[in-house]
Amino acid sequence: MAVIAVYSVKGGVGKTTIAANLAWCSATISRRRTLLWDLDPAGGAAFLFGVDANDTDRAARLFAGKGGADKAIRPSGFDRLDLLPADESLRGLEFQLLALGKRRRLGKIARALSREYDRIILDCPPVLNEVSGQVIRAADLVIVPLPASPLSMRALRQIQDDFAANHKQHPPILPVLSMYDARRRLHKETRAEWPNWPVIPMASLIERMADTKRPAGALAPSSPQAQSFARLWTAVERKLAKG
Ligand SMILES: Nc1ncnc2c1ncn2[C@@H]1O[C@H](COP(=O)(O)OP(=O)(O)O)[C@@H](O)[C@H]1O
Ligand SMILES: [Mg+2]
Repeated sequence: MAVIAVYSVKGGVGKTTIAANLAWCSATISRRRTLLWDLDPAGGAAFLFGVDANDTDRAARLFAGKGGADKAIRPSGFDRLDLLPADESLRGLEFQLLALGKRRRLGKIARALSREYDRIILDCPPVLNEVSGQVIRAADLVIVPLPASPLSMRALRQIQDDFAANHKQHPPILPVLSMYDARRRLHKETRAEWPNWPVIPMASLIERMADTKRPAGALAPSSPQAQSFARLWTAVERKLAKG
């Protein structure tokens, strides 16, 4: 089992979009039993599959350590892909985890789920606190979506600095050039500067998942958008295989 976090300190960079599409690639292209776990109280990951957020406190109750994952997990409508939706209770997760004092609680829950899942994809909130700390301790790989902008690069540096300062052994980072628009100079320059970063294009097909409830790969499998997620997923699997 591998845990893949889609994370940034910034919001609106494409984390949820990438997490949802990669989860579909994992389940459908790699045929792996996959869980998309939404840790952001703002929600969104399950919504993209047409599954409503829990109107309960299930998402946070899970962290109390008394089980309950089975009650919180929902089917996505796609084979091998399940969802663990967020709800409002996650707003208190930082304090809940600090009060517990169990620095690897998230990792422990993930490991317990490894009987049912081969890949767990974490859609993370844009925070730098105990929640992100637990994510980084649990993850085998951290994907950081970066739209071409100086603020994104600043976010990447913040994450790298945090890893260096607070995580002696941290997972590799895979930066992704997110919302790429080839017509824009800044985007082209950023791509030229980081030619090895996987690219996800800015496209209405991707944005439309919010109403179609279908990831790019299910809507239009041979589209360049679907292929960009498939290529990113291949890069993820390759990086995981390298250990
Ligand atoms: N590649 C893309 N092309 C077009 N729109 C995108 C793309 N990625 C994300 N978006 C849109 O940008 C907004 C923020 O994306 P989201 O994935 O929710 O970011 P985050 O989870 O980092 O806050 C959403 O409205 C989403 O539909
Ligand atoms: Mg999000």
